Amino acid sequence: MSEQLKTQAGSGSQELPERIRIRDRGGIALHWFNAGCWLVLVLTGLGLSTGDSWRLVPAFWPELMQGLFGGNRLLINVHIAVGLVWIVGVLTYLALRWRSHVVPFLHEVLVVTPRDLTRSLWITGVILGRLLGLFRQVELPPTYKLNAAQRLLGTTVVLGSVAIALSGLYLFLAPSLLSFPDSSVYGALYRTSVLLHAAAVYLILMALVAHIYFSTVEHRPALEGMRSGYLSLEFLRRERPLWYQEIVERYRSGESSVRDE
Ligand code: HEM
Repeated sequence: MSEQLKTQAGSGSQELPERIRIRDRGGIALHWFNAGCWLVLVLTGLGLSTGDSWRLVPAFWPELMQGLFGGNRLLINVHIAVGLVWIVGVLTYLALRWRSHVVPFLHEVLVVTPRDLTRSLWITGVILGRLLGLFRQVELPPTYKLNAAQRLLGTTVVLGSVAIALSGLYLFLAPSLLSFPDSSVYGALYRTSVLLHAAAVYLILMALVAHIYFSTVEHRPALEGMRSGYLSLEFLRRERPLWYQEIVERYRSGESSVRDE
């Protein structure tokens, strides 16, 4: 393909670059910081899952992790320390870029109304069904910045992360700050937090299986967008046609990029 693409939306005289910056270094750093923290937190967290009545992982995993860390104490401390680093890191990003990046992202990603949820679930079902050769003839609406499956993932990650952070903080702080015999509410909240913490993690993990598969196999160019910040316009034209149209129009009006640093 030539160094420059001719615009396909209109006069045809304007020229576009082959790739365009769609994400800045701060957004990329947050994503990989978050993913790195998740990796350590999931590996250590599953190593702490040792209940006798119900287990979230096969017994060998907690045994392996506790063997590696020389017991439960260090494993818990590493889990708590990385959890606190994750919370502080994400809160710092939110505070520094609330208006410029976070609000526009939340506006784009959050699935809030029942109608939006039903529609997003249906489109996600079609996208996943197509992996199995189903729904080929079903026409999907053109995508803007994120498709329905990505919006569902984003919503799950945002709401799930709030639940994980709050329940994790309660599990960590309550035993040293509260006197449990004084009120049965403290104990009930503790048990609810254990359940909420695990449920939110598992919900996000299920969504992440699809997220990582699509990012590394089906939509590989998107990975470049999360590495360098640049995406090919050809990929945008194919996968995000509404956004592509907007970019073309912005170029025509003299704006060089969608979200510059
Ligand atoms: C090996 C692990 C991961 C890979 C390869 C990966 C890859 C990617 C890629 C390529 C994108 C851009 C998607 C696009 O523009 O179409 C993305 C976005 C995103 N990822 Fe991941 N990811 C990983 C782990 C995670 C984890 C652990 C989380 C959260 C717990 C996460 C949450 C998100 C969210 C919310 C977005 C949307 C943000 C945006 O578009 O700016 N990812 N990821």
